[in-house]
Parts: sequence; C-alpha cells; structure tokens
Amino acid sequence: MPPVTRRSFLQSGLAGGAFLGLPTSVYRAALGADGEKPSERVRIASIGLGGQGKSNLKAVIKNVVALCDVDSSHLSSAAADLEKAGTKPVAVGDYRKLLDSKDIDAVLISTPDHWHALTTIHACQAGKDVYCEKPLSLFVTEGRAMVKAARDNKRIVQTGSQQRSDPHARFRTACELVRNGALGAIKTVKVGLPGPNFQGPPVPDGKPPANLDYELWLGPAPQRPYNLKRTHYLFRFFWDYSGGQQTNFGAHDLDIAQWGLGMDDSGPVSVEGSATFNKDKWFETPETAKQTFTYANGVVLLCSLGSGGYPGGTTFEGEKGTIHVNRSGLTMTLGGQKVADPYKLPTNETKLYVSGSHHGNWLDCIKTRKLPICDVEIGHRSATVCHLGNIALRTGRKLTWDPVGETIVGDPDAAAMLNRPYRQPWKLG
Ligand SMILES: NC(=O)c1ccc[n+]([C@@H]2O[C@H](COP(=O)([O-])OP(=O)(O)OC[C@H]3O[C@@H](n4cnc5c(N)ncnc54)[C@H](O)[C@@H]3O)[C@@H](O)[C@H]2O)c1
Repeated sequence: MPPVTRRSFLQSGLAGGAFLGLPTSVYRAALGADGEKPSERVRIASIGLGGQGKSNLKAVIKNVVALCDVDSSHLSSAAADLEKAGTKPVAVGDYRKLLDSKDIDAVLISTPDHWHALTTIHACQAGKDVYCEKPLSLFVTEGRAMVKAARDNKRIVQTGSQQRSDPHARFRTACELVRNGALGAIKTVKVGLPGPNFQGPPVPDGKPPANLDYELWLGPAPQRPYNLKRTHYLFRFFWDYSGGQQTNFGAHDLDIAQWGLGMDDSGPVSVEGSATFNKDKWFETPETAKQTFTYANGVVLLCSLGSGGYPGGTTFEGEKGTIHVNRSGLTMTLGGQKVADPYKLPTNETKLYVSGSHHGNWLDCIKTRKLPICDVEIGHRSATVCHLGNIALRTGRKLTWDPVGETIVGDPDAAAMLNRPYRQPWKLG
C-alpha cells in the first residue's frame, strides 16, 4: 500500500472538505457576537475529545464548528455539549475529512501523543493554524518535522504547555526573576515530577469495543491487539504512544526550567540517569527515576520522577537564593530568608512574553500572525529534553547531546532512538 500522506488521502476521494457543507454564513451567524464580529471569529475543529479534549473544548467553545474523534461515544458526548452551547457541529471520525474545508481556520489537537505529529503536520499543510497538546511529539525527529511544517506553511502552532500562560503569572515571574539575576548566577535547577497513576490490575487483550475505530486510534503506532488499559488515558504509560510521566509532566515543569534558563531554542549538552520499572510490567514507563542534565554554561538540571524526589514543580537555585514555582504558588528565598512579595521585585532588563490565557493567546496570534507564547519550536525543545531523559533511562548510558545538530554524539544506538518507524502506510511529512 502506498504511504498515507495528506495529499494521497485527498486524492483518494476519501476526503472532500467540500462535501462537509459548512456554509460559512450559517456557522458564522450562529456563533453570535460577544464583542467580536462573527465574520472575524476563528473557526476551530477540535480533534481528540477525551479528558483533555473536553477541557479544551470548554475554553474555546464559541469557536468550535467541527469535532473529530475515533471513539464515537466521545464524539457524540462532545457534540451534545456543543449543541447545548448553541452550535450544531460537523462530527467526523477521521480528521483528514476536515482538513480541506474552507470553513475551518484552525485545529485543536488533544489526541494521544503518538498522533500529535501527523495531525499537526497535515493541518499545517492544509493551511490550518494549530493548537497541539503537550508533549508536542512522541520522539525528537517528529518535533523537528512539526517545526518545519509550521514554518514552511507559515502556520501559527501553539504547544499546550499552558503554565507559560498562568493567569496568576507565577511561572513568568519566576523565570523573569531568574533571568534578571535576582538569585545571582544559577547553579542548579531541580524538577520534581509525579510517579505513574496507573490503576492495576491489568486486563487481557480483547476485541475493541464497537464505538472505537481501533485501527485509526493506533494510526502510526505498531500493530497489536486491543487492550482497554493501553488506550484511553492509560496510553501515557506505554512507549508506543507516549513517554510516561517524564513527558506528561516534564512537558510542563522541564518546560519552565528551559524558559527560566533562556534555553527555548536550545537544550542541555549531556544527560544521564537511572530508573526503576514496574516489576509486573503492567506499564512500561518508569515508576521512579533520577536524571542529571548539564547545560553548556555549567548549569545542572536535576529531575526526579516518583516518590522520594524533589518538590513538585521547578526550583531554581542560585548564588543568593532559591525560587520554587508550581501551580500552587511561587516561593522565593534570599540569603535563607523568605521574600515577602517576590512579584514586587524589579525585573527591569529581561521582560518575558506576557500571556494570561493560553487559548486566548493562540486565537490572538492567529489574527496578528505573531508567534504564540509556546511556539512549536519551544514545544519541540522542551519535549526533546523529556525524550533525551527517557533515552538515557532506557539505555542506562550517559549521552552527549548536540543541541545545534540535534544529534546524540558517539552513541549510534541511542541516536537511533531519536527516530521511530511508523506503521505502514503512515509516513512522517
Ligand atoms: N495541557 C495539559 O495540562 C494536559 C492535561 C491532560 C492531557 N493533556 C494531553 O492531551 C492529550 C490527550 O490526553 P487525554 O488524557 O485527553 O487522553 P484521552 O485518551 O482521554 O483522550 C484522547 C482522545 O483522542 C481520541 N483519538 C485517538 N486517536 C485519534 C485520532 N486519530 N483522531 C481523533 N481522535 C483520536 C481518543 O479516542 C480519545 O477520545 C495527551 O497528549 C496529553 O498529554 C494535556
């Protein structure tokens, strides 16, 4: 069978955005005003409607005109939510059917990680702007291909690492203080990630339920029998689809480490670590882990996963003090004393990108064509840190990373793990 690319799918006659029949006038009029002319409203197709997809849907509900999920029960539940909000959406099981529609401006992708790259790349090629959930990619080569698709097609691509748009500005304040030298020279950054929340016991393989198009759920991932505990939500803990809590939470907290260190277009130069794995192999990704990343300027990033690790979130340690930041708050010490109101400290020289709404920033950028706060390159670099950690844990070796050439130096077997074959007929690009 020839490889499935967006072009071959369109030529096959299986697609046909035109037949979707989304009359612009009907949808735009139905969307209502709300201070924004209906004719100016960005029209979104939301792809992947499980836990996070439903949450994303709420954030942009006024913009959504089309829905896609390979699970018809998730699709109809989201369609019912949208109908309650006053929009009768187009609903499909195959995202490629939406991409040629002139009535869709952008796509919001909340599929499992193994689908992020293809959906993003195909949407960019179809001229749609994209919001893609974190972690941006399943492996490093995918991320670089996603950046290329965004740039080649001049698309706005926001990565769903929404801590950058914290409405309380905790993460931005922490990173601005660090960048402006409030702690003096940074020596160490510590990131504490949670362990797996996988619920045992495992269940045997079986027949996929009638509501799930399992072949399309698998997509580019290796063929294997259906298993309830490898699909919805729990895909996170299996290498074929994700990278465990390392990529799930690392795409938030290692992303903040990268932001604070000013490494948005680069990364560490070496990584090593060790992990423990579930002895019954109910899940494949680590149960606990410790990793050490070193940056070219000598800063050391220590990352723990699971119990007995560093405090949850990101802690910057400098010559003069520390800043710990997570979703519960920002705590700063100087000379061992807690700083009463770190938000009031001056951060004169380096001002970071301000966004108080991750989806709102994406929609604004679609109109202004400015890069979003967590642009695809940033998402790719942060995901790369996560993936490098996993490769070090899986090989058990210290790796040398070249952040310019994006290669692992002197270890061909580890370097081969930067890429993965896709199941036929899927093809990256
Ligand atoms: N930003 C955040 O804070 C945050 C929080 C949770 C999850 N996420 C991310 O969101 C993504 C989804 O996670 P989840 O917990 O919602 O998973 P989930 O399993 O609950 O939902 C995924 C949905 O995608 C559907 N799907 C799978 N393949 C598809 C395809 N080819 N086309 C259309 N739909 C497809 C599934 O049927 C399912 O409904 C993950 O990448 C995860 O990392 C982000």
